[in-house]
Amino acid sequence: MRIGFIGGGDLGGTLARHLAKLGHRVSIANSRGPESLTALAAEIGATPVSVVDAARAGEIVIISIPTKAVADLPRGLFANVPGSVVVVDTGNYHPELRDGRIDAIDRGMLDSQWVAQRIGRPVVKAFNNIFAKSLLEKGVPRGTTGRIALSVFGDSLDAKAAVLRLVDDLGFDPVDGGDLHNSWRQQPGTPAYCRDLEAAALRRALAEADRSRIVEYRAEEEARIRRYIAAQTARG
Ligand SMILES: NC(=O)c1ccc[n+]([C@@H]2O[C@H](COP(=O)([O-])OP(=O)(O)OC[C@H]3O[C@@H](n4cnc5c(N)ncnc54)[C@H](OP(=O)(O)O)[C@@H]3O)[C@@H](O)[C@H]2O)c1
Repeated sequence: MRIGFIGGGDLGGTLARHLAKLGHRVSIANSRGPESLTALAAEIGATPVSVVDAARAGEIVIISIPTKAVADLPRGLFANVPGSVVVVDTGNYHPELRDGRIDAIDRGMLDSQWVAQRIGRPVVKAFNNIFAKSLLEKGVPRGTTGRIALSVFGDSLDAKAAVLRLVDDLGFDPVDGGDLHNSWRQQPGTPAYCRDLEAAALRRALAEADRSRIVEYRAEEEARIRRYIAAQTARG
């Protein structure tokens, strides 16, 4: 498949590496232009391109940038991209640690609903609930005992099916979590967020999430990240 990446950092770069290794034709873009990605792209077997070309480069386009940066993407980026192209959002909104306040999300819009509105295209929410390190190290063949599962949310069954197939190919059990309006179930801090769970446990964790706690979940996750950073800093 042709897969375009907007964002080639920890998560986007790791996913791009994996997918190129699986034989997909991967294009990758960042905010600084293709020249800045020459070395990474050569190492992982991808083509460095501009953001505009990455949006046009795939049957699947994966947006893997900080949430606040979505507002900086070129206007009309997907205007001439065929509707059949699947757009994936890997983002997590971190208002205190990284993104600053985004009013619409603070007023109750879900992270990926906001991204979809900004870019003017439906998105599939995927890969936001696994750390890059787990993605890099923990994929195993289908049927392996203890295989980690990854859930995917989206409104188009066809788009979601394409992403669920990628999840499986990458070495994780695919779980259809439901429509995008349920994607709060895997936003930061929820019971299903970045816990490296097997499929049955992941389904239970998604089901037990409490919608009234979205803001608290996020704040708890940001507090966890702060503690982690402080501990790492203390260790030098
Ligand atoms: N890291 C993880 O383990 C992980 C796990 C799950 C979900 N996520 C989420 O996935 C997203 C990406 O995370 P990350 O950890 O990969 O971040 P990162 O390491 O900071 O990388 C961000 C990438 O986005 C690019 N970028 C920033 N602004 C851009 C713009 N306006 N246009 C195009 N590209 C732009 C950056 O390129 P430049 O260097 O040129 O700015 C960089 O390649 C975030 O929303 C994050 O919360 C991350």
